[in-house]
Amino acid sequence: MNRFQVGVRAREQKQREKVGKSTCLSVDIRRNLTENIVFLIHKAFVDRTYSSYPCYDTGLESIALRSELFHVVVPYDARSTRDETADSAPKSKKLKRSAKEFDEVTLKVKDKHTEFLNLHKNVEKASDFSNKIALEFVDEFNRSVHYDVDKVFNGANDSQFIVKTSMNNEDYIIPPNCRFFNSDVRNLSDFLTTEDKFDFIVLDPPWWNKYIRRTKAANEKSGYRMMDNDSLKSIALENHVHHRTVVAIWCTNAPSHVDAIEKQLCPKWNLRLVGTWYWTKITKQGEPVCTFNEKTKKQPYERLFIAVSSNSAVKDIATEKYIFSVPCAIHSNKPPLLELFTDYLPERPKCLELFARNVYPNFTSIGTEVLKLQNTRLFQLLSSKHEVQ
Ligand SMILES: C[S@@+](CC[C@H](N)C(=O)[O-])C[C@H]1O[C@@H](n2cnc3c(N)ncnc32)[C@H](O)[C@@H]1O
Repeated sequence: MNRFQVGVRAREQKQREKVGKSTCLSVDIRRNLTENIVFLIHKAFVDRTYSSYPCYDTGLESIALRSELFHVVVPYDARSTRDETADSAPKSKKLKRSAKEFDEVTLKVKDKHTEFLNLHKNVEKASDFSNKIALEFVDEFNRSVHYDVDKVFNGANDSQFIVKTSMNNEDYIIPPNCRFFNSDVRNLSDFLTTEDKFDFIVLDPPWWNKYIRRTKAANEKSGYRMMDNDSLKSIALENHVHHRTVVAIWCTNAPSHVDAIEKQLCPKWNLRLVGTWYWTKITKQGEPVCTFNEKTKKQPYERLFIAVSSNSAVKDIATEKYIFSVPCAIHSNKPPLLELFTDYLPERPKCLELFARNVYPNFTSIGTEVLKLQNTRLFQLLSSKHEVQ
């Protein structure tokens, strides 16, 4: 395996400690609107991470995610935003439709969204009426980025500094105290030993799905490879779970995927499901990014299954939670979750993310695109001379 060295040696680190400064942003990342409704700000979490540590030898003073990525101001398909139960529909038809078309889960999430809108008062005022800024930015990134998913490499940043590094003519930002493996997760035992146990594990599997297949056929760079349920089952996750581990598994709404988690993956991984959380993607004004739909159609929400080991000592994890956030316009990019789990984890948790496209402090991240979203093109970099890079 190719060792991709980004570590900063201890001696150099000591010298730098004198000059390395950080100004931690004090911003709202999570607002608990009720016990189980939470508003999460993806960009604020990432920006706070990068404002919490000094940079090593980068000449950078501040690092923040590009705001273009979150310029989601209208539903993606603005023509289909009319709610099926909107007031313009005749009343009898309205009731008939909502009872017929929405399954129980969708109705529940939809009701929570209405509650969210009533509670979440400080929505941003519309300054634009299209998502063009975000879509064009992401299109350009997908078109021009070079990332070799077949290149097997690994690396680590053992220091407390943010490091900038290059690979194949692309620059990457590496946060402190992390390690990463650009590799197939089915080879987990090649990089982790059974001694490697984690407090928090996040998985976002590339579930088999027609949309990704179509996207990948249309544009090789914006889709990704998928995995069937048997291959997912072959991952030896059970070796890395201890009696207080909390596991969060992203899942589509497809019944076959939900079924696979409940009946195949959790039993194989020695996990017990304790909660189902829902992430609803909203525009800056709070609307869902697409309408709530009948069962087989696209929904503005995704599921997050919460599991613990079968003999777990962890208690009091919310069985249901409704997360609302403005999504990053990069396809399938999820909001960082750590902020939602701090109550259940030790102060400096040891974390693992499988199928990762980012790296975060205190995480071991594994995936075939593990550094893809650490590319400096996705960040606003301000140099110490206050030049925007
Ligand atoms: C759903 S995406 C993950 C998205 C990520 N959580 C985010 O927020 O951006 C799944 C990722 O797994 C990668 N992948 C597909 N097959 C894989 C495999 N066998 N081993 C590791 N990663 C794989 C895909 O290339 C893709 O980057």
